[in-house]
Parts: sequence; C-alpha cells; structure tokens
Amino acid sequence: MKLGCCYFPEHWPEEMWADDARRMREMGLSLVRIGEFAWSRIEPEPGRFDWDWLDRAIATLHEAGLKVILCTPTATPPKWLVDRMPDMVAIDQNGRPRGFGSRRHYCFSHQGYIRECQRIVTAMAERYGRHPAVVMWQTDNEYGCHDTVLSFSDAAAARFREWLAERYSDVDALNAAWGNVFWSMEYRSFKEIDPPNLTVTEANPAHWLDYRRFASEEVSLFNSHQVAILRELSPHSEITHNFMGFFTDFDHYDVGWEIDVATWDSYPLGFLEQFWFSDNEKRDYLRQGHPDIAAFHHDLYRGCANGRWGVMEQQPGPVNWARFNPAPLPGMVALWTLEAFAHGAEFTSYFRWRQAPFAQEQMHAGLLRPDSSEAEAADEVRLAASVIEQLGPQPAAQAPVALVFSYEAAWVCGIQPQGKSFRYLEMVYEWYSALRRQGLDVDIVEFGARLDGYSAIVVPSVPIAHEAKVESLTSASCPILIGPRSGSKTDSFCIPEGLPPGKLRELIPLTVTRVESLRDGETEAGDGWSIARWREDVASDLDPEFALSDGRGVVYRHSNVRYCAAWPDRKLLDLLVARIADDADLDLTPLPEGLRLRRTASHIFAFNYRSERVDTSPLGFGEPLKGQSTLSPAGFAVWARA
Ligand code: GAL
Repeated sequence: MKLGCCYFPEHWPEEMWADDARRMREMGLSLVRIGEFAWSRIEPEPGRFDWDWLDRAIATLHEAGLKVILCTPTATPPKWLVDRMPDMVAIDQNGRPRGFGSRRHYCFSHQGYIRECQRIVTAMAERYGRHPAVVMWQTDNEYGCHDTVLSFSDAAAARFREWLAERYSDVDALNAAWGNVFWSMEYRSFKEIDPPNLTVTEANPAHWLDYRRFASEEVSLFNSHQVAILRELSPHSEITHNFMGFFTDFDHYDVGWEIDVATWDSYPLGFLEQFWFSDNEKRDYLRQGHPDIAAFHHDLYRGCANGRWGVMEQQPGPVNWARFNPAPLPGMVALWTLEAFAHGAEFTSYFRWRQAPFAQEQMHAGLLRPDSSEAEAADEVRLAASVIEQLGPQPAAQAPVALVFSYEAAWVCGIQPQGKSFRYLEMVYEWYSALRRQGLDVDIVEFGARLDGYSAIVVPSVPIAHEAKVESLTSASCPILIGPRSGSKTDSFCIPEGLPPGKLRELIPLTVTRVESLRDGETEAGDGWSIARWREDVASDLDPEFALSDGRGVVYRHSNVRYCAAWPDRKLLDLLVARIADDADLDLTPLPEGLRLRRTASHIFAFNYRSERVDTSPLGFGEPLKGQSTLSPAGFAVWARA
C-alpha cells in the first residue's frame, strides 16, 4: 500500500513547493492529490487558461519522485461561470437556490454546466493526460457532499420528465404503477409531472422513489461524461472518485463500475460524532471512532469497483465540520492507516498536507501546522510507512461472509420509514458489527452479485426483491439470514400481491400480515434478548426458531434460510451469528470490546480501539510478529498466518 496526501499548491507561495515535496518523500509519501478546487486559478477568465503554475507544481512534485492524482475541478465552478449561467445552481427542496460562495453549487442535470465540465476536463486532459507523473484522475470531489444529489431545478424537472417517459412510455402506465388514482393525482401527459417537492403533505412514495432513482442516475451520467474524456485523452492513467462515509444518496455501485479504483474519505471521529451512535459509544470511542466505522467503509467500497479501492482522505487530527471535534488518541492515525492496509487498500492519502490558515477549514488539522512545523500525526505516518514496508504486499483472502448492501433499500426505508428510528444504514451497520465482533471478515456486496464461495450470506434488508436479483440468493446453498421489510414492496413502491415478502417466499414459506413500529425505548423481550423499533406479524406453518416470551415468532428458519421479522438487539444478533456459524462450520473468534481482527492471505492483524490495554493472548495466535500481545490503547499487532 502506498501513502499520499492531499495538497493544494495554489494555497501556498511557489517557493514552498519544492521543500514540501521533499518533506513528503521524507515522511514516506509517494502520491499527491491536487487540483480539485482550482478552477478559478486554472481558468481565471472565460477561455483564458493559466497552466503555468500547474505545470510547475506538477513538475516540482514529479522531480521529487512523487506521483500525482490530478482532479477535475468541477466541484467548484468559478464565479464568472455561475454569473454567465445562473440557472446552473441546484435548487433545494424548499425551492431555494444553492448559491455561490462555498462549493458544489451546481445541478447535476444542467446541460450547460455539463458542457462546461466537458470543456474544462478536455482542456486538462489534453494538457496532462500523458504526463508521466499523472498516474490517476479523480473526477470532481465527493459527489453529493453537502446534500447535493437532489436538485429541484427546472433543469432537473425537464430531465426527470424525459426519464419518466423513457421508463413508462405511456403516462397511464405511470399512473397505474404509482397508484395515482389515490388522491386524484393522475397526469394526462409526462409534461405535467413535477419533482415531488413543495407538495402540501408527503408526495406519493413511488414518485419519490423514481425521483431518487433518476437523481442517482444523473450523478452516474455526470461522472461518465468525464470518464469518457479521460479514457480517450489519458489512456494510461487510472480513474477514481472519492466517495463519502455513511452516504447513500446515489447508487455508488453504478459510479463504481465505471471507474478503476473506488476511493473514500475516512473521518472516523467526525462520523462518530455526526451519526446515530449512542452517548456511551460517543464517550468510549471519542478519540478513536467506533471500531467498525473505517472497516465498514473499507469493505463496502472494496465491493464497488471490482475489488480495487483506496482511502483518498484520511483524517490526521481534529476536523472542523462535526458538532465537536476532538483530537485522535495518540496512535490512531497509524492504526487507521494499517487497518486500511489490512483490508486491502491500494493507498491511503491524508487530508491534508498542511493546515490552511484561511477560509472555511482553517481549524482542520493537516500533517503540518500552518507554520509548516510537523503536527502530531507526522511521526505516526512514518511508523505506518515502515510497518507497511516491512510486511510487504498483502495478498487478499476471500472473506467467509457476504453482506448484501443496497442503496435502493436505503431510499425505500427513508421515503416511508413507518417508524422514525427505522434507519436502513444503521441496521446494516449493526449487523456488520455483529459479524465483526465475532472476528469474522466480511465482503459487502451489491444485491444480485454472484455469491459463490461464501460460507454465509447476510441480507439485512432488501425491500424490493427484484426477480433477477433474488436468483443470487435462491441459487446459494450456504446459510442465509434475511432481515425485516425484505420483499415488502414492488418495483413501483406498492405492497406485493400475496403480501410480503413477495418473491422471497421462494426462499422461505411465510407471510408478513402486519407490521408495527415501536417508540424509542420500547422493547419486546425474548429469552435473554429483545427486539426494538420494528416488529412484523408472521403467518407460517413453520415454528419460530426464536420467539418473544408470549410466543410471537421473531426468527423463522426453512432449510438454509432464516428470516428475522424484527429489529434485533445486540444479543439476538450474536445468537443469530452463532447459529449461522454453526451451520456453516465457521470458526468464530469472540473478541473483547473494542478489538477487531482482519486477515489477509498471509497475516492476521488486530486493532485496539479501546482507550485501555487489551490482552490478545486468549485468542491463541501466539507471539505477534509486530506489536505486543497486550495491545496498548490505539495499538495494533500482526501475526503471520500459519
Ligand atoms: C471532505 C472533502 C475535503 C475536505 C474534508 C475536510 O469531505 O472532500 O475537501 O472538505 O472533507 O474534512
């Protein structure tokens, strides 16, 4: 695995560049990402390009022996461009323009802006597409960041109507599919249809689902316009895009299949603070991040671009954007880096080289402070670089468990949650954590992906059981665990004929006759475990494998398939993982709180996310090759695999 950093030559006097490049090399870095926000310096006025500074910046990095990841600057269109084409900005759900003055102020559907992007990308690729230092392109920056996937502009509305006409051909077919008779919502032509915002109460969920599908496809299409140009003009470089954490607003698989390497931006402390974690978890993992945050995304994005992935932005110290921004525990930056290595990353690049003393992110740490002195993370980068070098390339091992992840599932559960706390992503994360707590390695895969070679398959929820995708499950003979709401909707957001789980009844003979959601804090008890948030009434000839104390069934089993008709607590999840492992003959390694394992074909890695020491000797791996068998807080150890 290579190490790198995100660098902004345009933020610093040119006299500093050569020394920066020298110091990057000295720290163990070999990759630099540049350019993603530099449009106003590349093209200060319409059609007048200033390449000189960028030529020299790339040459300086190249001379120091660094390779460059060059970005297309389309996340930050300059002021002159927005002034020329004011309707290129996105419109928010309340009908307000998302104006100039920060970033991502564009609508994915604006055809004029797409042409402008094609123009700037062509100009950059013509200039640098065959430059020996430029090994990779990053398209744009973090599609969807700051809630920018959905736009309700005229441009988006026009494209949506075309998209619908293509999908349904005939407006009566759309009316029937959506159930528009319900509140006299029928349309006489596609031209009459608007985006689903600004309605009096909730719009038709089928309308929303199609709008989300449409918006997701617009992101992929926006990306493919850039990819097409880069493939032609820079045939020897690779292409990536940097995805975000805990983000489901577009289908990342669709973008992933078009690029060479999926990368993501890893901010474990910011994510712990901003997402659903409990107060206890926020306290216990304040300076480490919850132990599955980084691993979950490593495993998710490894499944997005044929197994090739990396970390484009790694948090090196406090960030600026969460509600509270603590500093990492000493050792965490090295731990995060080595964890990416253990999960198979091709590179990890830190955001950013030097902390900026100006503008929005001046409180965001870098590897250097604004005065160029080294920040706390610098020595940890050196340590990680030396461990990576000593261990050498890590051949991948096939994970025993596949976990099926679906962006569409996130949209369906978000559009009609039915209970405020039914959050798809959180549920997937809890099921993933349950597997990881037992020491299992996990591949996260797309719904419908081939599942050969796995010992167990876990499907937290697939509300729409597309026929072609269900086949990937019916053809598997290993233990399969399927979660609530699966098969509960048709492709056009209706209850399936014969009731849920619709087509999944091929896997397990049961019918969900009613669902209820529970208030936060309400639970229903089983034998030493409980359920919360969501419960389904099930009619079946099968006897439940797990039932509540009053006899109502929660988990049903038929042959190799289990269906869990509720939101299980941690204890029930642990029991389910144990049952599956038993059926699959999988060895579990129950781990002490905060410890996580990851195996490559040659090594076993252990990472301690606790702020206390953890003894790994009970795991029976013997003396580690690196680190001690008692891990210090934020410590790691590595064993050679027998
Ligand atoms: C990312 C973004 C970077 C920077 C960083 C700060 O979301 O891609 O440009 O803003 O966050 O943590």
